[in-house]
Amino acid sequence: MEAVKVGLLGLGTVGGGTATVLLRNAAEIQARVGRAIEVSHVAGLGIAEQTIVDPAKVKLTEDAFEVVNDPEVQIVVELIGGYTLAKDLVMKAIDNGKHVVTANKALIATHGTEIMQAATAKGVTVSYEAAVAGGIPIIKAMREGLAGNQIQWLAGIINGTGNFILTEMRDKGRDFGDVLKEAQELGYAEADPTFDVEGIDAAHKLTILASLAFGIELQFEKTYTEGISKITTEDVNYAGELGYRIKHLGIARKTAKGIELRVHPTLIPEKRLLANVDGVMNAVLVYGDAVGPTLYYGAGAGAEPTASAVVADIIDTVRSIDVPADQKVPLLGFRSDSMRDTPVLAIDDAQTSYYLRMSAEDKPGVLAEVSEVFASHKISLEAVLQKEPIEGVNLVNLILLSQQVREANMNAAIKEVEALAAIQGDVVRIRMEHLG
Ligand code: HSE
Repeated sequence: MEAVKVGLLGLGTVGGGTATVLLRNAAEIQARVGRAIEVSHVAGLGIAEQTIVDPAKVKLTEDAFEVVNDPEVQIVVELIGGYTLAKDLVMKAIDNGKHVVTANKALIATHGTEIMQAATAKGVTVSYEAAVAGGIPIIKAMREGLAGNQIQWLAGIINGTGNFILTEMRDKGRDFGDVLKEAQELGYAEADPTFDVEGIDAAHKLTILASLAFGIELQFEKTYTEGISKITTEDVNYAGELGYRIKHLGIARKTAKGIELRVHPTLIPEKRLLANVDGVMNAVLVYGDAVGPTLYYGAGAGAEPTASAVVADIIDTVRSIDVPADQKVPLLGFRSDSMRDTPVLAIDDAQTSYYLRMSAEDKPGVLAEVSEVFASHKISLEAVLQKEPIEGVNLVNLILLSQQVREANMNAAIKEVEALAAIQGDVVRIRMEHLG
């Protein structure tokens, strides 16, 4: 059987990793697939300088459209990133009848509906395993391994940079900015690191997971996104004293009213496995009605871990190349004519518990006043912690843990607490999940 020809767009960290893995493991892959997979074309800026593929065997170009338009290429692997050029290339590849593999979470989360529709109409596949949680085969697990379940909720640490920052702050008391700089130097962070720390990257990934879990359209614009840049070592330490760790979670949950879709810093009990996922590692906890909780853990970024997912997609594409399009695994897990219109809820309608910290005057009756506000909003408190007075001022840090409450209720209560004369400044609020 003839080799399948693959065109790589981009030979950066992930592109380089993909070419390396395909070359190094060529025999292993051929033994699994039954035919050779050959990198026939590579496009990239400054491609003449590259040292990964053999220029005598591979067509090199600076113009990615040359690859996309070459009739020899059967599978286009888009590893350029970004929305604009990447989208044009992917749409052109589909139009030319080529199968596509991409690691581009931003592209799938924001233009996925249009891309999937075009691919379905043309009868080609678009695969995106590497777009979520790097090397963890979470797309395959959700689309195929858990296909017999009604997914009830999922929660994931799906940004390695953010997790690395929070881990270093907790373990070494390091400063936010200092750790971010290191994550950039190590090559984990996005080109624009605000995507990592403000939760945009995680929201891209959560958008994709929620579509696979619940059979809904990709709706990045409806995903609530809150970053970790305001998390202080003080809160990390108080959370620790109370038996919790702060993680930057992406959470998708089906409720009677609709789907909660939110990315934000979250306190989780330290005994949970997810609380112990540290450094740049990623993990996704998925709860299915039949299987119960399942946990997927691994490297969420880096050249070869991400290449592992890209290569798995290429292999899957080759294995199913002759399968009629309507008999393949649907691109988003559900058949395109069976997608649901379950609404995504506004953050005001989310139900969760809260960690609250406030600076209160150190005098009798303040705690009673604060408790009364929460009671008047029917919010039950689970724990109250009063810390030693802050040096030089007559203030103490008051920490409260609430039970589950609708976000809008909590916001109203916080507003009233902040208006109390004995409370100084804003109340710090971090959501909590028990994941049980
Ligand atoms: N910047 C991302 C992260 C890379 O830190 O997880 C993988 O998507």
